Amino acid sequence: MADDAQGLEDIPGIGPVTARKLRSAGYHSIESIALAPSRELVDAAGLSGEKAIAISVKAREMLQIRFQTAAELLEQRKGIIRLTTGSKSLDNILGGGVESQAILELVGEYGVGKTQICLNLCVTAQLPPESGGLGGGALYIDAEGTFRPERVVEISRSHDLDPDDILKNIIVARAFNSDHQILIGEKADELVKDENLKLVIVDSVISNFRAEYIGRGSLAERQQKLNRHLHRLLRIAEIHNIPVVVTNQVVASPNVFFGPSNKPAGGHIIAHLSTNRVFIRKSKKSLRIARVIDSSYLPEAECVFAISDKGIEDGPV
Ligand SMILES: Nc1ncnc2c1ncn2[C@@H]1O[C@H](COP(=O)(O)OP(=O)(O)OP(=O)(O)O)[C@@H](O)[C@H]1O
Ligand SMILES: [Mg+2]
Repeated sequence: MADDAQGLEDIPGIGPVTARKLRSAGYHSIESIALAPSRELVDAAGLSGEKAIAISVKAREMLQIRFQTAAELLEQRKGIIRLTTGSKSLDNILGGGVESQAILELVGEYGVGKTQICLNLCVTAQLPPESGGLGGGALYIDAEGTFRPERVVEISRSHDLDPDDILKNIIVARAFNSDHQILIGEKADELVKDENLKLVIVDSVISNFRAEYIGRGSLAERQQKLNRHLHRLLRIAEIHNIPVVVTNQVVASPNVFFGPSNKPAGGHIIAHLSTNRVFIRKSKKSLRIARVIDSSYLPEAECVFAISDKGIEDGPV
């Protein structure tokens, strides 16, 4: 990693004027320059293509790539901690709860309970580890304006927790558009560190992007931005050893054999960057069926859980 004290001006080729332009376009660190496609730097700071490439190369050189042995990686993975969803059967299909160092994606139709699970996790995260929690607060990036503190109060009481304490430990950031959401994602790292947060939620990760980038012509740009945003979130999960949970919408997928069905929105980017995906669908009344899909190490499995006034619970067995 580059020295934290180093700034944009330390990158050879960047003078004060270019640095100012880059900062006003949202690039504050050497890392942000190293990770940005050089085309973006051209647009952001009015650089020539050649100069943008030269600056990216320098910034990448300044960030030393870290190599790890497989043994070290195993050691790091031993540090994975798990957060209870409130439902044992849902925890089971997730391999024992929502895991740290990973992105869990909750996918499903309108009203299926994605937000309910997120609100519930903000409460269970504050339980002590011996009760399945992580003993810390949460950052809730609310892209749809559906965070409900009243519901958090209700869920807290069902766990015998003081709602006032629980609410104080949930930081809600309303993301009004995709750029705002990306910016919050960039600030999240600092916030998680400073406030010792144990969970980051993005509900939903896709809605702002879908609303703003309409039509085939803008798809590539949308996917690039989404890619950076999700990479940022995954890094936070890894660096701080916490879970990141994102919700995703479904889009109709006409299937020639089985008729129309739903598939997760966001295409390959979200599919690739979420570590585990859970597809949720409605069952009878308050019951829901969750299915683990596309995980690289969890078996495909299904379970039933319930949404009640108490939050997320096991369904009838
Ligand atoms: N207090 C409560 N008691 C019982 N069930 C509740 C309560 N509050 C919400 N629900 C259930 O949760 C459902 C809403 O779920 P939620 O808002 O989490 O859906 P979502 O998947 O986030 O949908 P969207 O895609 O629209 O954001 C309601 O239809 C209801 O079944
Ligand atoms: Mg919702």
